[in-house]
Amino acid sequence: MLDMVLGLPEQMAEAAARSRGVKLGRPVKRGPVMVAGMGGSAIGADLARGLFWDEVPVSITTLRDYRAPAALDRSGLFVAVSYSGNTEETVTAFRDAVRARSRVVCITSGGTLAAQAARHGIPVVPVPGGLPPRAAVGHLFVSLLVTLERLGFCRSYDRDLAEAVGLAAERRAAWHRRAARLAGRLLDRLPLVYSTSRLLDPVADRWRCQLNENAKVMCHTSYLPEHNHNEIVGMGAPGLLAERSVVVGLLDRDTNPRTALRWRHLLAVTRGGYRQALALESEGRFRLARLVSLLMLGDLVSCELARLRGVDPLPVNRIDELKRRMARSRRQA
Ligand code: PA5
Repeated sequence: MLDMVLGLPEQMAEAAARSRGVKLGRPVKRGPVMVAGMGGSAIGADLARGLFWDEVPVSITTLRDYRAPAALDRSGLFVAVSYSGNTEETVTAFRDAVRARSRVVCITSGGTLAAQAARHGIPVVPVPGGLPPRAAVGHLFVSLLVTLERLGFCRSYDRDLAEAVGLAAERRAAWHRRAARLAGRLLDRLPLVYSTSRLLDPVADRWRCQLNENAKVMCHTSYLPEHNHNEIVGMGAPGLLAERSVVVGLLDRDTNPRTALRWRHLLAVTRGGYRQALALESEGRFRLARLVSLLMLGDLVSCELARLRGVDPLPVNRIDELKRRMARSRRQA
């Protein structure tokens, strides 16, 4: 897992080149984008929404469920993302979108989704198989980004990608050393990961998912300034949790100055509600590199925490077992 995480820059560069070769058809008139996916396959859509937040006027919804909502808008684009191609929620939502005659594109390494897309003549942006889905984040995210560019939803992110890839390659060893120290701080603690901008919301979520799946621990996420209007009151109880929680603030140079001020006041106002607080600043010039810098740091922390806990970051036995049980009960139904 650690090698795969450290390979993120190469993976992103490869994904950019590969997804350009796919025939997608005519560009789509600007409408909303709905991306169906679960877990490691859904995060790419959240990352794109964070990236676009204050620069691309396209609304991106991530659909993490079986059915497309009533708000499914046929004037836009529906993207079904499943690394394995066999996730039942995603495949069901894909069928809904096909029935609704939406413009659909799939991103997958194969499975039922690829087979059904071929049957309906729907373009597939292929990603290489053989990885745990969460370790394919570079493939899944960049494939989506390039697809959105090629269909006319956003400008080219090539320049930004080049910076992100270069920065991650140059800084990965230092980020890894830092991650090992941070993991030490998080051992036997409950991480409370707080995002301070819409660019970093999906990064906080990615920290949670990676800590869950790689380090096999619980993690809580929250988002400023909203946090200051509810959760701030609850911090500190139950006391047992407060004693063991570490606040991890994700900060970006474009964090609204008022929100940055809130972050500092929040730590004072809730003293006693957490054991320790850490502030992590994104690195890089463009938004994409800044997003990648904290994402990769979080991935590395999850691997190092797994090491300290003596657990293997690769298997996700409970996810597999639940999928097996669900498949069995489908066959019986
Ligand atoms: O990390 C994981 O293994 C999960 O979160 C999967 O991504 C999730 O179960 C969905 O599977 P897939 O990505 O194959 O659609």
